[in-house]
Formats: sequence, C-alpha cells, structure tokens
Amino acid sequence: MEELKDNLIRDVTHELKTPVAKIEMAIDMFERSLKTGNEGVSKRGSQVHEILRNNIGRLKNSIKNILDISKLESGMELLKISLFSVDDVVKQIVREMVAAATVKGNAITILLPTGLPMIRADRDKIYQVVAHLIDNAIKFTEQGKINISARALPDALEVTVEDTGRGLDEETKIRVFEKFYKETSSAYGSGIGLAICKNIVQIHKGKIWVESQGKGMGSRFKFTLPLAENR
Ligand SMILES: Nc1ncnc2c1ncn2[C@@H]1O[C@H](COP(=O)(O)OP(=O)(O)OP(=O)(O)O)[C@@H](O)[C@H]1O
Ligand SMILES: [Mg+2]
Repeated sequence: MEELKDNLIRDVTHELKTPVAKIEMAIDMFERSLKTGNEGVSKRGSQVHEILRNNIGRLKNSIKNILDISKLESGMELLKISLFSVDDVVKQIVREMVAAATVKGNAITILLPTGLPMIRADRDKIYQVVAHLIDNAIKFTEQGKINISARALPDALEVTVEDTGRGLDEETKIRVFEKFYKETSSAYGSGIGLAICKNIVQIHKGKIWVESQGKGMGSRFKFTLPLAENR
C-alpha cells in the first residue's frame, strides 16, 4: 500500500514537473535571446511561444484529470442527466479532433447506423469518455485508421473506438483502466484518462472494455450505456 502510494506520488510529480521544466526552459531561452539583441528574437519568440503553449496545455490537462478522478472517486459527483443523441456527440468530437488526427497521418471515420436510440445520461461526461478514447487512439496510432461506430443492443447502446495503432499485449489489456497505469512511462500523459472513462461509464451502470489481438495489431475500446425503459 505504502509502495503504491509512493509510486503514485512519483508518477504524478513527474507528470507535473516535466511541463513546468519545459516552460522554464522556454523562458530562459527567450531571456537569452533578448540579451543578445534583436536578431533572431522573433524566431526564438515563436519557438518559445510553441513550447509554452504545448506545455501549459499539458499541465492544465494533467491537473484537470487529477481533479476529475478525485471528484469521481469521492462519489460526490452529481450527474446532470438529459436525453440526447450519441450521433451528435460523436460528430462534434470528431469535428474538434480531426486536425490532431491529420497531423499524425490518421484518418478518422464515423460509422453510425440511422435510427440509433437516444440515451439518458450526463452529456458532458459521455462526451469526455468518447473524446478520451479518440485522444488515445490518435496518440497511439501513426499513419493509420481510426473508426468510431455505435450500435443498439436489446438493452444498451454500444460505442466502439477502433484504431490500427500499436495495440496492447495481455498485461496491458488487463491494466489499462487502472489509475496512473501507462505501458511506457515516457509517453505523454498521466495514465488517468481510462480510469476516468471507467468511472464515468460505471456510474451510468454501463461497461467498458478493450479488445486487441496483441502488440502492433491495433485496439478496440468499447463501452455500453443501458437504455432506460421509460425513454
Ligand atoms: N488506443 C490505444 N492503443 C494502445 N495503447 C493504448 C491505447 N489507449 C490506451 N493505451 C494504453 O493504456 C495506457 C493508459 O491509458 P490512459 O488513457 O489511461 O493514460 P494516458 O493516455 O497514458 O494518459 P492520460 O490519458 O492521463 O493523458 C496508455 O498509456 C497506453 O499504454
Ligand atoms: Mg489517455
């Protein structure tokens, strides 16, 4: 237990320290370029700007994730339930993320049959789950394909995010939904995303799981949300 806590603190600290160190480095770079006169200041300026932007974003994301998981785990989080269509959520997310996918040479396709039932759930939270699965698919896939699909089962709606990326071995498949678990410690991220997804799906009484044929074979993340009888 103590060891687990130590590892956890080490991982979180690492995750927060890296972007802070990069931000400091960018500020140093900028100060040095100011001292050496005008030449090169604007080139340095845009490099510094990019480093600052990326790392502030990374820091904000990690802090938000850590706060989100502790709120969810406290059990105090109240769901804001409404009736909505998963189609709209998926399309909105893809519009927002398609640029990030394109940068990595990944093509995103959406496969949604017509007439999917509406669901009663917390829209922002379901948005967070789908966005996170797509974020991972983009992160762990190079020059590949990402498919998002959904189908109605007799008593649930099933959503699938599939990629042709690096895939998962047996151990990783078992552990991905654990808080702070990452297969490689160097990869960007705090390893909380899927733990948040699992928590959100579970408070909606759904299930979430992953399928993969192994390393290099892509992966398929799926979750279900029960369809209320009184829709
Ligand atoms: N689509 C995927 N393909 C291959 N491996 C994946 C995929 N999604 C998740 N993983 C593995 O599961 C681990 C945990 O994922 P999770 O989303 O919880 O954390 P993260 O993406 O590393 O960091 P964070 O989401 O907190 O920014 C990843 O580090 C990676 O090893
Ligand atoms: Mg993630």
